[in-house]
Amino acid sequence: MVNPAQTDAVILVGGRGTRLRPLTNNTPKPMLPTANYPFLQHLLARIKAAGITHVVLGTSFKAEVFEEYFGDGSEMGLEIEYVVEEEALGTGGAIRNVYEKLRNETVMVFNGDVLGDTDLLAVLGTHQDKNADLTMHLVRVQDPRAFGCVPTDADGKVLDFLEKTEDPPTDQINAGIYVFRRELIAEIPAGRVVSVEREVFPRFLEDGRRFYGHVDSSYWRDMGRPDDFVHGSSDLVRGIASSPLLDGRTGEALVDDSAGVAAGVLLLGGTAVGRGSEVGAGARIDGSVIFDGVTIEPGARVKDSIIASGVRIGANARIENCVIGEGAQIGARCELMGGMRVWSGVSIPDNGVRFSSDA
Ligand code: GTP
Repeated sequence: MVNPAQTDAVILVGGRGTRLRPLTNNTPKPMLPTANYPFLQHLLARIKAAGITHVVLGTSFKAEVFEEYFGDGSEMGLEIEYVVEEEALGTGGAIRNVYEKLRNETVMVFNGDVLGDTDLLAVLGTHQDKNADLTMHLVRVQDPRAFGCVPTDADGKVLDFLEKTEDPPTDQINAGIYVFRRELIAEIPAGRVVSVEREVFPRFLEDGRRFYGHVDSSYWRDMGRPDDFVHGSSDLVRGIASSPLLDGRTGEALVDDSAGVAAGVLLLGGTAVGRGSEVGAGARIDGSVIFDGVTIEPGARVKDSIIASGVRIGANARIENCVIGEGAQIGARCELMGGMRVWSGVSIPDNGVRFSSDA
């Protein structure tokens, strides 16, 4: 059995998160509140629960934000170190860049934006049983067309590494957790941009390395797009996806103790309401993520949306499937729908302006 205490965790958190703009203009994606905690905190809690304690964060974009929040990790019972890329080095370059900080033979690398439930010890177990150089967590999904597919043979050996295709040969996709033997990391080219998916994995495959898949059907979601972010947060709140931070607190909604929710408000569908937010009488919020310091005035309806910090949603406004950036002011009775994104600080005046990207 691999001793998790003798495994390093590396988390890649240096991406710009462009698909979640404007939320990521000032906040790195892994720090966005998800079920009322920075997304990364859920992952760190899972890592800790598995018994891994040494964590290295590969940072680049807004690097300082991580250390300000998590410090040396001792509050979570972890030892967290930070490595900063002045220029983002890509997923492979980022892994190579933390090499000097590694202490153990076994290194578990995580994409910092995947919400998952897989049994981390089982992934480490497969790595050891197969005496692998590299083991990748593969998850079975219903529709693999949007993802890179990774077929394996009967023994679990990886056969190929395929780009998105309309006709995938397998339902197993790269789930964004990789266990490396440390020496392999030294072989990744240093000091330049390298993609782990496009360059490192295909090369290891070509070189005939012992490259295995750990396949399961656990909960899995890439949080990179607004609709996945909304659903991932709601799945955490409802306990469909698990997080050690929420044990015993799951339900239809999660409301921070410092938030104010008036009488007659309906909070449904795994809605999260963050610190100091206020929701006025008769509002209805369904399946949405409300960050900190948000004001939702009486009678407003918000569905499947992300409302960033400091936003005001006017009385009787209707917001559906939208992303509202920090500090935006949405006037009373406005209707915004169908994937609209309102940039940070924008003000939309009162009285029934109707915007929909579907129209
Ligand atoms: P998009 O711009 O929306 O595609 O998001 P992203 O920049 O986060 O890219 P992607 O979702 O493909 O990244 C997967 C994971 O790798 C995320 O956790 C990123 O933070 C991380 N990542 C991507 N590129 C880099 C990089 O150059 N350096 C580091 N340290 N991490 C990276």
